[in-house]
Amino acid sequence: MRKLKRKPALRTRKPARGRAASDSRIADAERFLLPTYKRPSIVFSHGRGAYLVDSTGKRYLDFLGGIAVNALGHAHPEIVRTVRREAARAIHLSNLFHNAYQGPLARKLAGWSGLDRVFFANSGTEAIDGALKLARLAARAPGENPLAGPRKHRLLALENSFHGRTFGALSVTWTEKYRLPFAPSLPGVSFVRFNDVADLEAKMGDDVAAILVETIEGEGGVYPLSEAFWSRARALASAHGALLIADEIQCGLGRTGRYFAYQKFPSKPDVAVVAKPLAGGLPLGAILASQAVAAHVSPGLHGTTFGGGPLVTATALATLEAIENEQLLANVRERGAELRRGLDKLAARFAFVREIRGEGLMIGVELSREGGPFVDEALKRGLLINCTHESTLRLLPPFIINAKEVRRFLALLEQVFEKMSETPAQALSEHNPAHAAHTAAR
Ligand SMILES: Cc1ncc(COP(=O)(O)O)c(C=O)c1O
Repeated sequence: MRKLKRKPALRTRKPARGRAASDSRIADAERFLLPTYKRPSIVFSHGRGAYLVDSTGKRYLDFLGGIAVNALGHAHPEIVRTVRREAARAIHLSNLFHNAYQGPLARKLAGWSGLDRVFFANSGTEAIDGALKLARLAARAPGENPLAGPRKHRLLALENSFHGRTFGALSVTWTEKYRLPFAPSLPGVSFVRFNDVADLEAKMGDDVAAILVETIEGEGGVYPLSEAFWSRARALASAHGALLIADEIQCGLGRTGRYFAYQKFPSKPDVAVVAKPLAGGLPLGAILASQAVAAHVSPGLHGTTFGGGPLVTATALATLEAIENEQLLANVRERGAELRRGLDKLAARFAFVREIRGEGLMIGVELSREGGPFVDEALKRGLLINCTHESTLRLLPPFIINAKEVRRFLALLEQVFEKMSETPAQALSEHNPAHAAHTAAR
């Protein structure tokens, strides 16, 4: 096979078309897109590794990774090679036929997760909806009228959760500003206080079909689930014949330094859901289920046109193989530890850093101030980070970052913190429901 030529090191260029702010592409986006996102006036043109470049030639250290998607950074040679090869073969075949990659990819995911069977979807939210459908299916008692709603239909989700934007996933997403404008959502959903075992016990019952948890809440501010809560949820789900579903869309597939974040606990879920980094940036989600759950599924019960096509599954296989071959789990742990040490030092110097949370390369820096201005200041200095729930800076760098990039990140963040300490504090809104949910659970 032809070897992919390594491109020269990423260079910055002079702007080809003047400043991005006056870019007609931005004007088109602002005029013709539904206004679902607020975006800075930047057009990114390309990236390499942990760096991105915008259309003016400015470089950015990418500690957001496309919101936890770009685990291998940008333009990883194996991903580029695979996409080129498969695009020239068959991009799409339909799920009416086998392709060369779905089976091997499912085998690898089963090996990584300890679960047995896989369904490929196109996004995280779609995979969550599929997992909820599986829960309803598995909850139906033998002989129960298949045309009536199952007796066992309730879903327990957690306060401060985020599971996606389609109706099923939205119904189990706690944040009201996302959910309530689209009410009514799925009936039978109850939200359990985060890490609160007593509340879980109170809300559990024989009519519950599934307990759904993010092993580490991501959008909610990077809050890891406790072992006590996980183990009780596992025991209660088994005792009541419900499924324990782990949403590992953000924290799974290596981000914590383990294949799955739940692997730090002594037991497995019945279903795990993954997406974001799975196919190296191409859209792909997956539902992983135990054999007992899979036994309820028969042809025609669930499906998708695009999910699991040859291009995306080949790229996913290349992504997982790169994570193995380049020993990226160890890199995630080592770089994660370096980051934590550096962040702890900054926390000791800057009083507005309240807490640092997370595992591996999924880190939340809790501020006592509004985080948006920190993100804007970082962007000016060529650093991409994100703020979630008003005051948590969220770091989701690619798994391939090296020690030099960690040092560069810490130096840039220190500059941002210095600048922000000279700036008058932005008051936090009086009641932040995300923090209320977690403070109560401590
Ligand atoms: C934990 C979690 N679940 C579900 C989703 C939804 O995934 P998607 O945006 O691919 O639909 C996200 C996205 O941020 C997520 O972080």
